[in-house]
Amino acid sequence: MSTRDPWHFKRTGLAGQVLATLADGPAQPLTLFAPRRAGKTEFLVQDLAPYSEKRGHRVIYASFWQAPLSPVAVLLHALEKSLAGDKLSDRMRTAMWRAAPKLKLSGSVPGTGAEAEAEIDLASLKGEPPNNLLLYLDDLLGRVSSTGKPTILLLDEVQELARTRGNIPLVAALRTSLDKRRDGLRAIFTGSSRAGLAAMFANREAPFFHFATPIDLPALGEPFVDHVLTVFERTAKRALDRARMIDAFDRLHRDPYFFRLLVQLMLYDTGHTVRSAMKALEERVAAEFGYPETWLRLTPIQRETARALVTRGSRPFSRAFRSALGKALGEDTPTAARVQAALRRLERIGVADRVGGDWELADPGFRTWIAGVAVRNRSGAE
Ligand SMILES: Nc1ncnc2c1ncn2[C@@H]1O[C@H](COP(=O)(O)OP(=O)(O)OP(=O)(O)O)[C@@H](O)[C@H]1O
Ligand SMILES: [Mg+2]
Repeated sequence: MSTRDPWHFKRTGLAGQVLATLADGPAQPLTLFAPRRAGKTEFLVQDLAPYSEKRGHRVIYASFWQAPLSPVAVLLHALEKSLAGDKLSDRMRTAMWRAAPKLKLSGSVPGTGAEAEAEIDLASLKGEPPNNLLLYLDDLLGRVSSTGKPTILLLDEVQELARTRGNIPLVAALRTSLDKRRDGLRAIFTGSSRAGLAAMFANREAPFFHFATPIDLPALGEPFVDHVLTVFERTAKRALDRARMIDAFDRLHRDPYFFRLLVQLMLYDTGHTVRSAMKALEERVAAEFGYPETWLRLTPIQRETARALVTRGSRPFSRAFRSALGKALGEDTPTAARVQAALRRLERIGVADRVGGDWELADPGFRTWIAGVAVRNRSGAE
């Protein structure tokens, strides 16, 4: 990931607003909401981070997404790297840290007496973090915290922390550490599952309950399309039809990732029309995201519930919804509890998401694909 990616559409105005809210607003962390692939991570890493670094803030990024390391190791690593003087914008280009590192601790670990030379193998940390490591985490957060411009902590895919109870002590420790340093340390949490984030921030029992203020990431619009079309023209020495491409962007649910794939297809195959490229994109996306495989792995009730969310809307416990579900399954009307169990499972595997009180398909691309299956079924072509 380089900030020099020519296809990147800069969101400088937004970075300014978010930094102002973070740094000068009431000292509360923020959560950034947006659907899958809307550009949350790209915004954090390519816009907000360099913008804030340029203005003298220390910026630290950590992502908990299916990390090969335990969450506490992910955090310790990010903090140690920052203390070692690495700038985030440089590191994003170089050190991808798949090879789980051994971490040289830069201070003493409370309770062990181990001094600066201690080394821990981050890859071996499993399950609940030992208490002394949480104290060490607090110590590091204290050291990155700033008395001048607040340090910005970007924590991505935080819903992963809500997946296992073993993470509760870490989340609680993090809350305490951040609370203690409201002035020197400002955090922004992001995640790709809104139900997962709600479980963290709206659950009374959870340590992050009411801890953060939600903000929305505005959807990308025509200026983004124009930017991509300009880069295309410069690269390919030919132009694409603006109106058709804006229409395509809308039909792709304004998904910047799909749109860039579409443009890439047209870049490499000069024979494509917008229509033929959209068709090719559909197949490519279904294969890349494994839609057919996911579909086949679902049980009949999960599958029909997913389909009904697409075709019947978001109130799956209503009598009408359940009775239609029963018909589709060729069974009696399922109970609300059975539908609930199916939805829970769909949520766990990332197929469904709860937004406010409503259920919906988490991935608009999958939604379109399922709608296509429904049509193919009706015409007897599946
Ligand atoms: N500002 C942008 N300029 C150009 N391309 C973008 C921009 N934002 C997003 N994209 C494209 O969309 C893709 C998805 O963005 P990103 O990974 O940031 O989404 P996300 O919201 O973090 O998704 P997830 O919920 O899956 O983590 C990027 O890899 C990039 O191709
Ligand atoms: Mg992301």
